[in-house]
Amino acid sequence: MTDQLPSLPMSRAAGASTPPPAAPARVTVIGTGYLGATHAVCMALLGHNVLGVDVDAHKIATLASGQVPFFEPGLPEKLREALDSGRLRFTTDFDLAAEFGDVHFICVGTPQTVGSDAADLRYVDSAFTELARRITGKALLVGKSTVPMGTAARLTELVQRVSPAGAALELAWNPEFLREGFAVADTLTPDRLVFGVESTWAQQQLAAVYHPILTLGTPLIVADLATAELVKVAANSFLATKISFINAMAEVCEATGADVGLLATALSHDSRIGGRFLQPGLGFGGGCLPKDIRAFAHRADELGVGQAVAFLHEVDSINIRRRRRTVDLVREMVDGDLAGKRVAALGAAFKPNSDDVRDAPALDVARMLYLEGASVTVYDPEANGNAHLVYPDLNYADGLIEAVTGADVVVLLTEWQEFRDIDPDDLGRLVAHRRVVDGRHALDADDYRAKGWELRSLGTPAHPKVSAVGRG
Ligand code: UGA
Repeated sequence: MTDQLPSLPMSRAAGASTPPPAAPARVTVIGTGYLGATHAVCMALLGHNVLGVDVDAHKIATLASGQVPFFEPGLPEKLREALDSGRLRFTTDFDLAAEFGDVHFICVGTPQTVGSDAADLRYVDSAFTELARRITGKALLVGKSTVPMGTAARLTELVQRVSPAGAALELAWNPEFLREGFAVADTLTPDRLVFGVESTWAQQQLAAVYHPILTLGTPLIVADLATAELVKVAANSFLATKISFINAMAEVCEATGADVGLLATALSHDSRIGGRFLQPGLGFGGGCLPKDIRAFAHRADELGVGQAVAFLHEVDSINIRRRRRTVDLVREMVDGDLAGKRVAALGAAFKPNSDDVRDAPALDVARMLYLEGASVTVYDPEANGNAHLVYPDLNYADGLIEAVTGADVVVLLTEWQEFRDIDPDDLGRLVAHRRVVDGRHALDADDYRAKGWELRSLGTPAHPKVSAVGRG
């Protein structure tokens, strides 16, 4: 049996009680994708001895050689630093992992199930099972993957049943809130830490592992397992809802002649609302927000509380409608017929500073333009390779100049700094027509218009009465 939860307040202000100094722990990290690779590296940088584990031998070999198999700014340098310290190793060997670790973090993916909104828990179940059945003594398994409500309770029963260690094998949930593109900073200096634990011992293990971060004054929320797993899906649902709120306002603006850019600026100055995640445009994508809100709504239905989060279906619909509307704007610019028109699609990744094209709004728009007969040339500073794997039929340019030369219309789909920095005149000399659809409200509209461009963006009038200067 586990011991009782301590009488610590559930939410503890930073520094209210500084955790005791901790000795380096022996940590394994199962699953070395965006989340796990970053976590493994950062754990080693914090002074722990770390073993990164994955079933993908190629990925493990790549990481062990000091290369990061995806684009994440700052991570390659940190990986090499961690490897050089001698505290980070990688393996595909689960026997080794079970023997090595005192604390095991499980960071495998929970993609959307094909043909359903539910999360696919195959990888989570397999990682917990494979590890648990090899662990013979007291240890802590810590889930970091985003999972549906009730998963931690189910896994606790599962791992204690299959493990020779039985109830000595404990489970905790420690959701991760890192953003791609900021993964290292978000891991080493998070906004908060959440420990979902069932015993004082489990809490102490996590406090020891995160000791250097807690001493920075990072807020810590100690919670039960059910709350800890819910924090993550609730946070992503809130963020998705905020984005879809402003994009719903963009739809209203389109019907009334109002300007969503000005609206968002005015709303953002209310400190209760704030401006973050209030950027109107093409909406959210990626491997997290879209599938997380769907899995949340699906699980809530199963639990009989579907009505409580029914609004998430609308959040999803608003988001998807923005993609179709972006295609409409491009079509309007070329006099209603995309067939044979040359479109330069700037961006493929679901957001800048990432090469991730999972559920990328940019690629979806490029695909729809292509299906209407446009000749689409895509350029993304980092994601061309991944995009080509998903949509080999589109043309891909190696650089910006190649992508835009001779274009009938330019569409900005992912707001990379490289695209924000373009001089409208330089761009204008390359294209066939000075027409641009700014899918991300990222360009200086006044400057473009002053230099002879026709510019359209979602939720703003074709000929705004107020210049961008009024946007604050
Ligand atoms: C998101 C969350 O922000 C992280 O906290 C969470 O840990 C992560 O999912 C996860 O579940 O693992 P991420 O997917 O990296 O992180 O990307 P975000 O920065 O949240 O952006 C998501 C999408 O929203 C992007 O497509 C972005 O372009 C879009 N977005 C963002 C907007 O359309 N408008 C905004 O104002 C902000």
